[in-house]
Amino acid sequence: MSIEQLAETARAMVAPGKGIIAIDESTNTIAKRFAGVGIENTEENRRAYRELLLTTPNLSQYISGAILFDETLRQGTRDGTRFADLMTANGIIPGIKVDKGPQPLAGFPGEVVTEGLDGLRARLEEYYKLGARFAKWRAVINIGEDIPTGTAIEANSHALARYAALCQEQGLVPMVEPEVIMDGAHDIDTCYEVTEVVLRSLFGSLYEFNVMLEGTILKASMVIHGTESAEKASREEVAAATLRCLKSTVPATLPGIVFLSGGQSDEDATAHLDAMNKAGPHPWPLSFSYGRAMQQAALKLWAQDMQGNYGKAQETVFARARDNGLAALGQWEG
Ligand code: 13P
Repeated sequence: MSIEQLAETARAMVAPGKGIIAIDESTNTIAKRFAGVGIENTEENRRAYRELLLTTPNLSQYISGAILFDETLRQGTRDGTRFADLMTANGIIPGIKVDKGPQPLAGFPGEVVTEGLDGLRARLEEYYKLGARFAKWRAVINIGEDIPTGTAIEANSHALARYAALCQEQGLVPMVEPEVIMDGAHDIDTCYEVTEVVLRSLFGSLYEFNVMLEGTILKASMVIHGTESAEKASREEVAAATLRCLKSTVPATLPGIVFLSGGQSDEDATAHLDAMNKAGPHPWPLSFSYGRAMQQAALKLWAQDMQGNYGKAQETVFARARDNGLAALGQWEG
């Protein structure tokens, strides 16, 4: 795979006014989302829900790609069209979550390291054949008393770099995601310090492992106060701190940065992205790769009446895509 092809895919993922919808919840994670609205976690319900999302009319106006879970990449619509084929036909790039989730890091209470490197080359080869053109790996960095440690940060950066190099070898754009978790009572300054160290470590590892940044996308968490923090930063403060942190750590050769929503409200996620883009131009396009902030309203509607609210749920997905697409241009009006 040439770097030009990887770079072209990466640029298409962050095309102006477009972002990614993350629907790559593992079977355990979607179980929690479904339980929250009273939907049974069966294979057919998961398939039907992903069909609702991916067949939203005109989705590709604001959505460049979607991240799927392994099961979804092998599924299709009721009438038998594979989701990956449907997406490609509609101009939405299929992506795939390839990590196997965080596991406790031995000897480091409260910290985790993401697993999934063993056998990854063969899995990537298969995912490419199934139509995937980018792949996501999520590292989890928790903030708490005396954590994160440098050891946990480095272990996660090392894994991210090894996965990213394998992706590029197999023709997939790596979407590297070091998520600094919002849970906790920490303030925005602590989140800033941690995020800065994490990103420095990540780009150091990517360099050591010969990962080509031109064919890589960063999926970042915003610099924001913890969910239990007594002091809440304003939207302007979150946008300014996130920009400052990214500008001091992320090389300008990267084709783009997308954000996760991480438990922010739908409106906060959109407003923060919009505020950052209103302060542009920046060295890279800043867009979204939201999971919950793209889906939670639609899932609620669908759960109330699967048939009756089908169209309404899709309209909600489209509205969230439009708002976030406008925010990616700094043109959201609130
Ligand atoms: P949220 O936007 O719900 O945080 O999910 C995005 C994601 O893909 C996390 O890995």
